[in-house]
Amino acid sequence: MRQGAVASLVVMEQGLRIAGIARPDEVPFTWDGRLLRAPAGESLAAALISAGVRRLGEGPGAPRAAFCMMGSCQQCLVRVDGRLAPACLVPVRAGLDARPA
Ligand code: FES
Repeated sequence: MRQGAVASLVVMEQGLRIAGIARPDEVPFTWDGRLLRAPAGESLAAALISAGVRRLGEGPGAPRAAFCMMGSCQQCLVRVDGRLAPACLVPVRAGLDARPA
């Protein structure tokens, strides 16, 4: 990846959430054992994207990532507290344990 592309990606990731909007307090949750924080109630897929996580699991021959963000494609399937769930439909809450499926 070119240097300029890396800088653009960093700027984009820092600016993913719209500034000036009141949000619930951030709560801690884990992704694959890594401690992260996101506003309570934000979709897990959005929280992971905001944290720089793109790869949510492995599909047949290719990695899986969030795509439709509305529960239709199932590309964001992950394990949440041990159960399979589409990350785009799971609200972040304190203590949530999410892992690649
Ligand atoms: S991104 Fe398509 S079901 Fe979650």
